[in-house]
Amino acid sequence: MENMVISIDGKTVSCRAGTSILEAADQLGIRIPRLCHHPDLKPFGACRLCLVEDEKTGRLMAACVTPVAPHLAVQTHSPRVVNHRRNIIRLMIAEHPESCIVCSKGNRCGLRQVAAQYGVGETHLYPMANARPLEQANPFITRDLSKCILCGKCIRADHELVAVGAIDYNHRGFRSRPATVHEADLGASECTFCGTCVSICPTGALALKGGAYVGTPVVESDSVCGFCGVGCRLAMGAAYEKITEVNPAGGPDSVNGATLCVRGHFAHDFLNTPKRLHGPLIRTPHPDTGESDLAPASWEAALCRVSDRFRRIIAQSGPQSIGFLGSSKCTLEENYLFQKLARVTVQTNHIDNGGFVSGQRLVMHLDEKTGGRWRRNPLSWLDSAESILVIGADPNHSVPVVSYYLKRAAQRGVPLIVVDPRRTELVKWATAWLRINPRSDLELLNGLAACLLERNGYDAAFIDKHTEGFGLYRYGLSSLNRDRVCRMTGLEKSRIERAADLLHGKKISVVVGHGILQQQYGAHSLGALINLSLLSGGFGVRPAGFYVLIRENNAMGAMDMGAVPNLLPGRRSLTHEAVRKSWEKAWKTTLSPDPGLDMVRMIEAAEKGFLKALYIMGENPVRSLPESDRVKKALQKLEFLVVQDIVQNETTAIADVVLSGAAFSEKGGAFTNLEGRIQSFSPVVSPPGLARADWWILDSLGGKMGNAAPYGSVDKIDEEIRRLVPMYAQLDGRAQGWIGAEQPNGAHPISFSAVVSTEEAPVAEDFPVTAIIGSQRYHLGSGTRTGLSPRIRAVDVQARAEISPQDAEALNVSDAGRVRIVSHCGELTRDVRVNGDLSPGQVFVPTGVENNSALALIGLDALSGARPAGWKTCPVRLEKVD
Ligand code: FES
Repeated sequence: MENMVISIDGKTVSCRAGTSILEAADQLGIRIPRLCHHPDLKPFGACRLCLVEDEKTGRLMAACVTPVAPHLAVQTHSPRVVNHRRNIIRLMIAEHPESCIVCSKGNRCGLRQVAAQYGVGETHLYPMANARPLEQANPFITRDLSKCILCGKCIRADHELVAVGAIDYNHRGFRSRPATVHEADLGASECTFCGTCVSICPTGALALKGGAYVGTPVVESDSVCGFCGVGCRLAMGAAYEKITEVNPAGGPDSVNGATLCVRGHFAHDFLNTPKRLHGPLIRTPHPDTGESDLAPASWEAALCRVSDRFRRIIAQSGPQSIGFLGSSKCTLEENYLFQKLARVTVQTNHIDNGGFVSGQRLVMHLDEKTGGRWRRNPLSWLDSAESILVIGADPNHSVPVVSYYLKRAAQRGVPLIVVDPRRTELVKWATAWLRINPRSDLELLNGLAACLLERNGYDAAFIDKHTEGFGLYRYGLSSLNRDRVCRMTGLEKSRIERAADLLHGKKISVVVGHGILQQQYGAHSLGALINLSLLSGGFGVRPAGFYVLIRENNAMGAMDMGAVPNLLPGRRSLTHEAVRKSWEKAWKTTLSPDPGLDMVRMIEAAEKGFLKALYIMGENPVRSLPESDRVKKALQKLEFLVVQDIVQNETTAIADVVLSGAAFSEKGGAFTNLEGRIQSFSPVVSPPGLARADWWILDSLGGKMGNAAPYGSVDKIDEEIRRLVPMYAQLDGRAQGWIGAEQPNGAHPISFSAVVSTEEAPVAEDFPVTAIIGSQRYHLGSGTRTGLSPRIRAVDVQARAEISPQDAEALNVSDAGRVRIVSHCGELTRDVRVNGDLSPGQVFVPTGVENNSALALIGLDALSGARPAGWKTCPVRLEKVD
């Protein structure tokens, strides 16, 4: 593109054609005031504060919307320009209410800042306050549109960044304001309460509800969101050691830019819950009643109790009688120390983490299958995607920031194929929606691949160079029974062919969620997905990412640090002798070659009495696993249960010792997100009371159990990880980096998986309906943390079971009715929501709400055994409750 030299305030700068004068001035470090401009939004030219004067013609131009031209020379602060700016500010203030003293924006208000900068106080204009009723009929956002300056940032952010379309301009002239359709409350609109508009609003027109009463943050620090696997970069505001406000930290190198989701923006108020643990607790018998209860204790007493009991149990029953359940929410450093405590100090491989229940095993499978090629998948690649396939995922609810990327791609005209039995919110944006029958993903993927092969719509050069087993795969697909594919999926042949046409000759970006991973044929479906991706020539090659929508913020990192039964840090196999030997040398120990028990098998071992002690860090299995009562009884059978957490929950209540950890905002460390991005962060506030960072607790306990040299700092742990885990060479404690990945041109070809078909399961007469168990945007996972957020709790979160109008009619229930959902494992009763987006014979049951009771429908065995049945769907029957 052509370069040109222009002059700004007498300084010359060379810039590319198309650059705006404002951007050119920024390059020179000349600050032109602005209120409606945002680097992530299309320029709009509404506020006119960025006026500059053409030195030759005297013309005044809005710098944000005027592109540079050859030999242009402008003045940014000439007397004329300054005079005009002052007048604009005076007019804005004349229309602005005089409520700054109680406005939560305070000194951060853009209007107030420019007024101060230009010395505008008394306007000498007739005040024309544009009175508007306050809108705050929702728990998140207060809209005071009398403070709106019509910069349009909220509307543009809504349309361009999060692509929701809940608001637009309403009325004309003086009455013009951003509004929802028919000026309904936000809660009655399409608004998802992502809060992007609140963060981007330059004045107090859009504000955090109740923000005026907690005060302006005293400190603001960058951090990383502790909820889902996207790992949004946050700017956390705090006052008096409490988090009071959260905004996107933005920046071109952040995954989320100027956006967040409702959880990231508003649910961090759970950090201030009265249920926070303020210090260690030890179960102590009451001297009179003999009943035991948890009582406050010193760290010395609590850590000694844990080390003494562990030593005694090891002496009596051996190290294999102790298990460790780590956390996909704790940091890399903490998971590294945790598994080292298990493997080296205690000498057991019984270690797992909560990522077990969100498809982590299949991520391992994928990594193994592809030789580590897929590990880095920047979401920014979606900005140049050729085609996108979304399968088994409802990203609008589970990982909303990913949905923003997908919707923006669809806005640009990228073919977007959504595979889902339900009409999810993403369907509105889809080029094709393949509404398959539940559990028929594998058939559909094979059917799509067969169509592509038949039409030569694949990348032969890529397949030749980077894969093996294509011949066998092709042969397998040649005998695919297409009629069976149509029967199983419930799709017409032409519909599958039309979808294949959209993918023809294009690299496919794959977005895959738990829906596919948590099924009986999850591993085979994943294999079929990889096959499809290889066919398109896109696997691991920009722009075709392969995005596994990992649910927790550090599920990837917990696995990478070896907090799993079969892998040592760096995803190296424990059973591989050379790998094991190298770790034995590094840690100066011997390691058992036998993989330990996974999360569910540890529960089963506790039930049978084989496991005597369990150390749980940052997980709440009584709530997050199916068969809550069974899990609780198994844990109560243990001789000793240690639970390290930040809040009181169902599992801490039955612990023998509770160790009070720190939330991510109260400690330093790093997380790895679903892209493979390593993000370090520092504490924003201190942990409450005597609570301590989890790494400190583990380090101190290690010391009590005989570890010679405590680490003493996160930096020291990082140094060891960097030295011993090459995949984490970019973990540096301050900047962000990426995990190491094999290069696409690496030596190992990727094998096509064999073509497998599912068995046709007869419909069980007693359980003719398929329950689809899924998340919704307000809660993450089991809802342990989001359920403690006062704002989230104040939403009318739909804990309702959703059924089709046909089933509602057959049952004679309406939106006001209740149904009992009965499976072969258990039952639950929920209010009904009739949803035309569901097919007859389906019921959607959201997780995370009502104590995560949706899991009553499935059994623990759905997650274990050689062929786990998965827990995304299960057969049920519906009964009307009168
Ligand atoms: Fe240019 Fe508002 S910043 S018109």
